[in-house]
Amino acid sequence: MSLDDVLARIDADLPAATDRLLDLLRIPSISTDPAFKSDCDRAADWLVADLRSLGVAAEKRATPGHPMVVGHAGDSGPHLLFYGHYDVQPVDPLELWDRDPFDPEVQQTASGPVIRARGAGDDKGQMMTFVEACRAWQAVHGKLPCRLTFFFEGEEESGSPSLVPFMQENADELKSDLALICDTGLFESRVPAITTMLRGMLGEEITVTGPSKDLHSGMYGGIAMNPIRVLTRILGGLHDESGRVTVPGFYDGVPELPDALRSQWEALGFDPAAFLGDVGLAVPAGEAGRSGLEMIWSRPTCEINGIIGGYTGAGFKTVLPSQASAKVSFRLVGDQDPLAIRESFREMVRAMVPADCKVTFQGHGAGPAGSFDISDPAFEAARNALSDEWPDAAAYIGCGGSIPVAGHFARLLGTTPMLIGFGKDDDQIHSPNEKYDMESFHKGIRSWARVLDALT
Ligand code: BES
Ligand code: ZN
Repeated sequence: MSLDDVLARIDADLPAATDRLLDLLRIPSISTDPAFKSDCDRAADWLVADLRSLGVAAEKRATPGHPMVVGHAGDSGPHLLFYGHYDVQPVDPLELWDRDPFDPEVQQTASGPVIRARGAGDDKGQMMTFVEACRAWQAVHGKLPCRLTFFFEGEEESGSPSLVPFMQENADELKSDLALICDTGLFESRVPAITTMLRGMLGEEITVTGPSKDLHSGMYGGIAMNPIRVLTRILGGLHDESGRVTVPGFYDGVPELPDALRSQWEALGFDPAAFLGDVGLAVPAGEAGRSGLEMIWSRPTCEINGIIGGYTGAGFKTVLPSQASAKVSFRLVGDQDPLAIRESFREMVRAMVPADCKVTFQGHGAGPAGSFDISDPAFEAARNALSDEWPDAAAYIGCGGSIPVAGHFARLLGTTPMLIGFGKDDDQIHSPNEKYDMESFHKGIRSWARVLDALT
């Protein structure tokens, strides 16, 4: 029995694999919203049952938040761990979806069939590529390729609050030779890739309170301080004219791109205008003088993710609100210290709030950036395996998103993470009408079979 038999089995089983994924996509496992707690639990149960059907000894493990799923199989060869997350982002704005986000279907589009649902691309579809590769391997060989640990999280999209304690308490079980993670994308939606850098993230919510209640803006306007005016001045001051973030000390620990990496990235031929063209834009908005790939992979950012305050309903209302708030996130790189930046940001904001108003803060996750060692020969082996599956040769790339677990594997367990994913730029992850291309799913499963073959 050879790799070709496993690949043929994957091809033949694709319709059934798709049905299994659609089943999982029907569970609305939105981790950030307590209303969906039992659904997160149900998704964990689904995964336990699915892993058991492969002969994996799997269990749901309680945490103070949503459960983890951990499974073990095999006892010979290298010990590989696979990580994916079963939680998904909220679906709002629901009115922008073409169908119920949790009523998945395979749709035919001009660029081929896609699986449409919340979580299809991030991360259930990606997570199942690995599980399905194992299923085919098991069917062909009667066993899995090596010692395998499956580790599925249900809080990735809400800052992974239970992850570090869980990894510390179960360190012996989760330590492995390599941690495979399927939660990233292809380069330019086409080139298979191993992601070697992730940005970190710091989330902050700030609430400015002015008058003790909402006021008539004719009666009080002019004499009473408006908290939206305070808030927008703060938010408007977070970037300078050249696009740099103004928080004091923000750039401490931000490295310049090493020359070797710069030339490697230049060779990728990234076209910022085309990348922005896909979303109706044309002009890069990051720091002046930085390349497009630097802006999304290796430079830190500050983004305002939401603003709440005053009257936002239909029509018009002359209100002077009591409160205004904003959700702000920072993407971090290099050795930027999330907690130091949090303190500096809060201090800067406090200094901008007039005596008559008050400000409160709520933190939403704080994790450093990660840059991963690829000196292990397993990386070149995996890269070659990916190149065999896709028309383009595989590349080492960066990623602007954050996957907290990757850094924790490296720092807490001493296990090197290897990030391989098959998402495309237009998957609309975190947005309405999220999808995962059938090509990503099918070739993703085949890719993992090839990688497993190369690593074992
Ligand atoms: N899968 C994404 C990370 C990602 C984003 C990979 C874009 C490739 C392209 C991941 O699930 C995610 O969205 N993470 C959150 C983490 C945050 C809440 C700490 C993110 O990056 O916003
Ligand atoms: Zn994800």
